Amino acid sequence: MQTTHSNKFFTQAQEVMVGGVNSPVRSFNGVGGHPLVMKYGRGAKLFDYDNNAFTDYCLSWGASILGHAHRHVVLAAKKAVEKGASFGTTTAAEIDIAKHIVKCVPSMDLIRFVNSGTEATMSAIRLARGFTKREMLVKFDGCYHGHFDDLLTKAGSGVAQLKESSSLGIPKTHIENTLSLPYNNIAMLEKTLTQYKDKIACVIIEPVAGNMGVVPATVDFLKALKELTKKHNMVLIFDEIMTGFRFSAGCFQSEVNIIPDMTCLGKIIGGGFPIGAYGGRKDIMRHLAPLGGVYQAGTFSGSPVVMKAGLAALRVLTQDFYRTLNSKCETFAASANRYFEENDIAVHLSRYKSMMSIRFRREQVLDYEDALQAAGGDRYGRLFHHLLKAGIYWPPADLEAFFVSGMHTKADLRTLLDELKKFFKP
Ligand SMILES: Cc1ncc(COP(=O)(O)O)c(C=O)c1O
Repeated sequence: MQTTHSNKFFTQAQEVMVGGVNSPVRSFNGVGGHPLVMKYGRGAKLFDYDNNAFTDYCLSWGASILGHAHRHVVLAAKKAVEKGASFGTTTAAEIDIAKHIVKCVPSMDLIRFVNSGTEATMSAIRLARGFTKREMLVKFDGCYHGHFDDLLTKAGSGVAQLKESSSLGIPKTHIENTLSLPYNNIAMLEKTLTQYKDKIACVIIEPVAGNMGVVPATVDFLKALKELTKKHNMVLIFDEIMTGFRFSAGCFQSEVNIIPDMTCLGKIIGGGFPIGAYGGRKDIMRHLAPLGGVYQAGTFSGSPVVMKAGLAALRVLTQDFYRTLNSKCETFAASANRYFEENDIAVHLSRYKSMMSIRFRREQVLDYEDALQAAGGDRYGRLFHHLLKAGIYWPPADLEAFFVSGMHTKADLRTLLDELKKFFKP
């Protein structure tokens, strides 16, 4: 594969941008080699500056469920930008998409738009703290909620006395109030929430984790979470930034009928543009400025171009769209897993609908410890480059989910399966 132009661009990128990237996971540090520099995207394909075409399963880290440059989204964005990109005032475009989302997502009575997922989770936590007048927050090992200081604790360090941050530059005081618990572990959850019942403001969770590969929370675990947070008057926050509108319009919470107090959204709802949103019960949301005393603001929040593009994308996401997408993925994953099983290869695909990841072991993954044991390491890097050479772009990092869009064809998925078979020979 020719990468002359990508290499040239990447050299320039490194001279002016830290590590040549604007987000660390885009570097190929986890898989080796240099990142490709992309020129454009169309449907399920990405094209680089050497005119290599790739079937994209990274999809802007899950945001592009309609593939790239979907005509409805492009048209909506073009029309909006012609009328001005940002006014810093309320617009009808905001109201339209807010109505759509609030109608779809059961936990959201009121919504606030922001510009990224990180902003959404950070603000939701601030609001939960303001509402409960408590300071502690609980998260789960292996879940990622953005790069807010209070959330960047090392897995497993939550209940220890000396907590460790997973990044330099974070004052100890920021993580003192953060507990990180094992995912899917009801006993630990019950013990901790009972022990700190008057101190915990909120519990935040990816209800289907996508940042330690795909790990759906068990329904029993989510039920326990709902019951315990309700009993102790803590705010339950579902981080549906990755899962929101990926499986169905009602988000994951409607699929299991476990309704949190607040929900964070991002990625898909922006139609590929930068976005985040948080919302929830009216009595909680009313504590947010200008109605209440919890402050949060944003110059570009609710920008009309993003709002119009986002709504155009959401309107394409009908029940039929999801049915077709989910069934394509089911057939693909079942065939892959059958192949691994029949050939006694210690690998499987973990999946929730159109969100999947590869595990380098037979046994199911239930938490972060399992996920680490099931990581491929160098093998993942070799698989990534094998796929890349075959014209398939997977996330350049082990333990990340890969995604399928509505634009991927059954033939695309058959090609992916064939390439997996070539790599994992019996
Ligand atoms: C579940 C989840 N929450 C929050 C975030 C942070 O979103 P953003 O990158 O838009 O700040 C991400 C990003 O990947 C995510 O996957």
